[in-house]
Amino acid sequence: MGIFKKNRTERNLPRHIAIIMDGNGRWAKKRALPRTAGHLVGSKKFKEIAKYCNKIGIQYLTVYAFSTENWRRPKEEVDTIMDLFRDYLKDTYDIRNENIRVRFLGDRKGMPDDLVELMNAAEQDSKDCTGLTVFIAVNYGGRDELAHAVRDIVNSGISAQEITEDTISAHLYAPDCPDPELIIRPSGEYRLSNFLIWQAAYSEFWYSDVLWPDFSTKDLEKAIDDFNRRNRRFGGV
Ligand code: FPP
Repeated sequence: MGIFKKNRTERNLPRHIAIIMDGNGRWAKKRALPRTAGHLVGSKKFKEIAKYCNKIGIQYLTVYAFSTENWRRPKEEVDTIMDLFRDYLKDTYDIRNENIRVRFLGDRKGMPDDLVELMNAAEQDSKDCTGLTVFIAVNYGGRDELAHAVRDIVNSGISAQEITEDTISAHLYAPDCPDPELIIRPSGEYRLSNFLIWQAAYSEFWYSDVLWPDFSTKDLEKAIDDFNRRNRRFGGV
């Protein structure tokens, strides 16, 4: 084997992968189905990819499921996405069985009350799971997260001179989670769309034309292999 070809055990797995699950609507349109059908298949894909990340030893997976801007979509579409969350969170037995820990990023204040209860219960029920931690970003916006952090910092009484980058990181939604090393966006879009804008400062980006419902574990493997070939310098040489 050539020295540049790392095998599975030698390769460097990103500790934290973040994914923008994009392209559900276009996937459905191509099949003359309602957009909601794309979200249903997209949510199944999320479960498959989370299980796979857990299996290969990824520690953190963050998925962008619903942004602060997504409320502008038709009510039927928003309701369907909320129902898909409900279905997933009601089955915490399955999540715990996989040894997956579930957490959330985003502003819970804007979410339906019953879902907030399910979110709290899922976090509580899975808190001792030691495998993958999956962060589901719902009612999430990167700028909104920073605005929250700034409000918290001001309310905590820290003086302006004391504020460092670490102060800001410590006031984000998940201060204990390392920044994502790899951010994946399928569906042929090349934007961050207000996702993890602070945490993405040194992330590697990986794009693909595949629509999220068609995304496969092979695509994920390709993203990880490409990540392995990159030379991360963090501003150094
Ligand atoms: C973006 O594709 C996708 C969303 C806004 C919703 C993603 C939500 C899910 C996959 C369900 C999540 C469920 C769980 C349990 C985490 P788009 O609709 O913008 O696609 P388009 O750009 O092709 O229209």
